[in-house]
Amino acid sequence: MLTIALSKGKLLDPTLEVFRRAGYASARVVTDSRKLVFPCPEIGITFLIVRPTDVPTYVEYGAADIGICGKDVLLEQDSDVYEPLDLGFGACRIAVAALRGQGSRNRLSSKIRVATKYPNITEQYFNQRGVPVELIKLYGSIELAPIVGLADRIVDLVETGSTLKAHDLIEVELIARSTARLIVNRASLKLKHAAVTELIRKLRGVRTSGKDAAPRKPSRTGRRARIR
Ligand code: PRP
Repeated sequence: MLTIALSKGKLLDPTLEVFRRAGYASARVVTDSRKLVFPCPEIGITFLIVRPTDVPTYVEYGAADIGICGKDVLLEQDSDVYEPLDLGFGACRIAVAALRGQGSRNRLSSKIRVATKYPNITEQYFNQRGVPVELIKLYGSIELAPIVGLADRIVDLVETGSTLKAHDLIEVELIARSTARLIVNRASLKLKHAAVTELIRKLRGVRTSGKDAAPRKPSRTGRRARIR
């Protein structure tokens, strides 16, 4: 049996759809219940439903052999896991945004306040550019921060751009692009090699096409190598 940690929220339905198309369909997984564990012996998988930001932790510590989460989460956490497959869906970007009309403020002249749920990505991005920032860690509704004067900028996920638009915010800098990734525990890749590689092969066969579609060697994931 493989144990697979799935991200609840926006990625859950497209993830289950990709698994279904790859031949791992199970009627036992019910996404609108309070259940967190779904053993599916008929496909050799136990699914865990966890918060997206917790997926790398489950995989790194071996509580799950495999996880599915956004690249944004991996960049922020720098977990010691393999990341062999870009699943292609869940495309969005991590961007700096500001209130319309304040996007061209001279950032080098003074410390700016940046609200975000991605403090590590944000700190690294601005540090690399020599821009002094004061980070304000929030857990959601980030777009509110500039409106109420809590921050000069935000760093957040942008998918359609409609949340920014609804709050009169504009994207001023792109930090990184994100899609759903499959991650694997280091020991599981060795000890359950056949099952893990078969799953990867089948998922790769049905993944959403995109520019990262080419198979890649398993690599250590994390923000050190990824933010430019
Ligand atoms: C994410 C993100 C933005 C929104 C972007 O929030 O933080 O708020 O989606 O999507 P859009 O560009 O399509 O409008 P999420 O729904 O995950 O909730 P959160 O604010 O609680 O993090």
